[in-house]
Amino acid sequence: MTSVEQELNRLLGDARAELRAASDITAAEQVRVRYLGKKGLITEQLKRVGQEPPDVRPEIGARVNDAKCALTEELETWRHQWEAAALRTQLEAETLDVTLPGRGLALGSLHPVTLARQRIESILGGMGFARAEGPEIEDDVRNFEALNMPANHPARAMQDTFYFDAHTLLRTHTSNVQVRYMEAHRPPFRIIASGRVFRADSPDLTHTPMFHQVEGLMVDENVSFSDLKGVLTEFLRAFFEQSVDVRFRPSFFPFTEPSAEVDVRCVGCSGNGCRICKQTGWLEVLGCGMVHPSVFHRVGIDEERYTGFAFGAGIERLVMLRSGVTDARLFYENDLRFLAQFR
Ligand code: DAH
Repeated sequence: MTSVEQELNRLLGDARAELRAASDITAAEQVRVRYLGKKGLITEQLKRVGQEPPDVRPEIGARVNDAKCALTEELETWRHQWEAAALRTQLEAETLDVTLPGRGLALGSLHPVTLARQRIESILGGMGFARAEGPEIEDDVRNFEALNMPANHPARAMQDTFYFDAHTLLRTHTSNVQVRYMEAHRPPFRIIASGRVFRADSPDLTHTPMFHQVEGLMVDENVSFSDLKGVLTEFLRAFFEQSVDVRFRPSFFPFTEPSAEVDVRCVGCSGNGCRICKQTGWLEVLGCGMVHPSVFHRVGIDEERYTGFAFGAGIERLVMLRSGVTDARLFYENDLRFLAQFR
């Protein structure tokens, strides 16, 4: 063996030992540069070829090349193995257990008042009542005067009104839609209007300053109080989903004559008396009556030819009675534990 060959073997041995000790790609690259780079230890051996006798030069040149190739190959192999190991480690660290249960999508739900409005509209829609709408910001005329409540009328005191100025207010009831609809349409018609109403009440178990009402109005020739009784009795049975007893009690509203309030037999105690019905056995659910002739007169509907009935109910109250909710404020506290119970 020539001295060059001996030297090459020694260098290869050193390089392999260094490669085994290399802990990362940078260290391996340093080994490559040290032995195979332009001034690398193995590369340098080529310069010694010229000092050898001519006949052995090709042979020695070939040896140096063999050594370069061998080390290059080993470096490649080392790099592949290192990359594979690195990938394995990374994959293990990022393991995903696809059998774990998912996080679950929480489905939203409609607000109980929205659900009730939809049910009310569907029940009365089935009886031929079309939907009508009116503004929440209303003028004094449509909210009060046209409904037979002129300024200083004592009935105005029943409703604590939010005023913007002397003529503009937040509607205190959905009865304003009656006025607006009759100003724009001629009988016959049957409409319902549901929406927000506002009263300056302090919140308590039965009051919130904003709540919802549904208003009904039917006008035609020969509409009678028995039509009113029939429609409302059927509506209440459908809404409470049971054959509730219904009672019409004489009452007063300025815009209806005669007027009545409607009670249903208490759904909490079936009439025996409980906390919900304050031991009376009955629950007041809505106001109604025959449209007052002077209301017709004001909107230009012939009060001699036409008659009609109207009714108004609080939607939160209907939901409270049907579902046993005892605090009206719950509807507006946005507690999902409450709201999500209605689906
Ligand atoms: N507007 C009345 C209120 O808010 C409810 C009402 C009573 C509406 C009788 C009507 C009705 O249409 O005929 O208390």
